[in-house]
Amino acid sequence: MNVELIDLHPATADLEQVVREGLTAMPRQLPAWLLYDSEGSRLFASICEQPEYSLTRTEIALLNHQADAISAALGPGVMVEFGIGNAHKVSPLLKALKSDLFVGLDISRTALRDALEGLGREHPQTTMLGICCDHSQLADLPPHPLLDGRRRIGFFPGSSLGNFSWDNAVALLQRFRRLLNNGPLLLGLDQPRSPALLEAAYDDAAGVSAAFAQNLLTRLNRELQGDIDVDRFHYRARWQSSQSRIEMALVSDSPQTITLAGQLWQFEPDEAWITEHSVKYSPAAAEELAKQAGWRIQQRWHDDNDQVSLHLLLPAD
Ligand code: AVJ
Repeated sequence: MNVELIDLHPATADLEQVVREGLTAMPRQLPAWLLYDSEGSRLFASICEQPEYSLTRTEIALLNHQADAISAALGPGVMVEFGIGNAHKVSPLLKALKSDLFVGLDISRTALRDALEGLGREHPQTTMLGICCDHSQLADLPPHPLLDGRRRIGFFPGSSLGNFSWDNAVALLQRFRRLLNNGPLLLGLDQPRSPALLEAAYDDAAGVSAAFAQNLLTRLNRELQGDIDVDRFHYRARWQSSQSRIEMALVSDSPQTITLAGQLWQFEPDEAWITEHSVKYSPAAAEELAKQAGWRIQQRWHDDNDQVSLHLLLPAD
């Protein structure tokens, strides 16, 4: 098997502390990664199949369609994907680049192994090197003979950056620049469009988006001996134009007190518990973000409706 794993043993977060910080803040908000326990990951995969949520399908089609042009623009090198999830998006690029080596980073060791084994079967000529780590804490990739002296090409698709605040997005892109040794970065972003379409994409008719958010409460009940009545919060997704983002929240139906890990938290009626933000970047905003993080946008590909875009970023100096 052409899969090798380096385990940097990322520290597991102290859930109690993360929740304490998030629920003390006003408005209350927990980090988005908490949405992805195994049920959350399953629900997210189902969101990607809902008719209203076209982002994933559109990006995959764009990658397939433009793989040759993108790989020519990227030039030779080793693809390094940050947070590989189920890892299928990189496939057309590996093929176009005729890669002998692919590096996948992920915080979940089992997800990483499964993803790389799947990719490895699809690309028998490519060595799959997995690095189990928290890339937001990493100063450099661990040394490895296969990586020695090789140019690195970063890949961060799926509008994952949309979950980050502006400052955290800048910090992450700065970190990627170091981790890539000044190699290029291919960044996938979603763009602003009609609020009605966006709100539908994040609150689909089948209720999967709502279930995805509500699963956070179920998870906290299970892992922190909580007593939250999930039915006393309702899901809301709304477009906030001044911040160019969708805000996803669970809104308390009534005044209520919940318990998590022995601690009590009071909610006012209509008080929002923000589960996630999804920032949409216009070409101008993407330009500004890249600039603040020390990158410049060299080239941009998009689908026919100019909804999803892939940007080739190069170090600014
Ligand atoms: C995984 C952050 C790209 O913002 O579109 C989708 C997450 N949440 N529907 C997005 C999400 C609810 C998604 N990202």
